[in-house]
Amino acid sequence: MDLKLSTLLCFTLLFSTILNPALSERCNPKDKKVLLQIKKAFNDPDVLSSWTPETDCCRWWFDVTCDSMNRVNSLFIYSGRLSGQIPPQVGDLPYLVDLRLHKQPDLTGPIQPSIAKLKNLMSLDLSWTNISGSIPDFLSQLKNLTYLDLSFSNLTGSIPSSLSQLPNLGILHLDRNKLTGPIPESFGEFHFSLISLYLSHNQLSGKIPTSLAKLDSETIDFSRNKLEGDASMLFGLNKTTLIVDLSRNLLEFDLSKVKFPKSLFSLDLNHNKITGSIPVELTQLDLQYLNVSYNRLCGQIPVGGKLQSFDSSTYFHNRCLCGTPLPSCK
Ligand SMILES: *[C@@H]1O[C@H](CO)[C@@H](O)[C@H](O)[C@H]1NC(C)=O
Ligand SMILES: *[C@@H]1O[C@H](CO)[C@@H](O)[C@H](O)[C@H]1NC(C)=O
Ligand SMILES: *[C@@H]1O[C@H](CO)[C@@H](O)[C@H](O)[C@H]1NC(C)=O
Ligand SMILES: *[C@@H]1O[C@H](CO)[C@@H](O)[C@H](O)[C@H]1NC(C)=O
Ligand SMILES: *[C@@H]1O[C@H](CO)[C@@H](O)[C@H](O)[C@H]1NC(C)=O
Repeated sequence: MDLKLSTLLCFTLLFSTILNPALSERCNPKDKKVLLQIKKAFNDPDVLSSWTPETDCCRWWFDVTCDSMNRVNSLFIYSGRLSGQIPPQVGDLPYLVDLRLHKQPDLTGPIQPSIAKLKNLMSLDLSWTNISGSIPDFLSQLKNLTYLDLSFSNLTGSIPSSLSQLPNLGILHLDRNKLTGPIPESFGEFHFSLISLYLSHNQLSGKIPTSLAKLDSETIDFSRNKLEGDASMLFGLNKTTLIVDLSRNLLEFDLSKVKFPKSLFSLDLNHNKITGSIPVELTQLDLQYLNVSYNRLCGQIPVGGKLQSFDSSTYFHNRCLCGTPLPSCK
């Protein structure tokens, strides 16, 4: 071919690509069709007004991103108002890694069962919505999940023990729902992967399983439930836990016998039925926050470390705790 002709051809091709969006469209037609169905299922909400058939979903649509193969890999709708249930079509975006429908007060109905098909999903966030029903077992099939946030919703029923089969789960937020029943025995099997476990503000009851002695998470928040009995298994000299909040439960154990990890920097045990005294080992920790108020503790607050830097509300309303910052022991 003549050099000039091929250059001309090249330019023609280049210009037609720029001028004709259809030729340069990245969006996979299957994904586009599914997204338009999702938009329709939500009744064409304002927040999805950029989702139009003429434009490239990978370039121009808000809340959508595509991977290097031009498949939709993330759907992150966190503003505006979606109303109704999560449509089954979300399960037809096979390359989805990240699905977040966050702060959607009018999003109702169950956790859509077709989400089970999204095998590549790493993050699922349906927090601050009004999704209801129970937490489905099928979530345990999404083996790549590292982040699961179902907090601040309207979920009921018990926590499925199968969640511990998620080998890569690092952060689990089930707080601020209406969950009942016990913490599953299987949660001790999360072992090293689980960095943060938030179960607070539910109606969880019964004893904390002893298997949780194996759990070594940075953050554990079980506050505002109805948990009873021992919680000392959550601690241990060899753990690397930073933050523990067990406040406002019905826990009953001897604090003097607990071995605290050196890493601990925030401990909230207020409003329980904890007995014994404050162990002297707590003076060796670099505590930034401590609250043991409203329990059944006795004896002198050990002197040293950070223990005297907290005000009396850290210690008040116990059976017979005394010494700075409380009145001195008789
Ligand atoms: C759930 O719906 C109720 C009633 O409509 C509303 O008051 C509440 O804010 C909603 N929850 C969330 C997390 O948006
Ligand atoms: C999980 O992710 C890896 C790599 O990102 C991928 O190869 C694998 O297929 C995924 N697992 C599943 C069950 O899809
Ligand atoms: C929350 O769930 C209950 C059933 O458990 C339901 O009656 C109620 O309507 C739900 N609230 C909202 C705002 O969807
Ligand atoms: C803590 O770790 C040390 C050595 O790393 C080990 O000897 C000891 O048995 C462990 N203690 C507990 C309670 O696991
Ligand atoms: C400890 O908790 C009690 C009860 O919730 C509260 O009144 C007090 O202010 C808290 N103290 C600190 C230092 O946070």
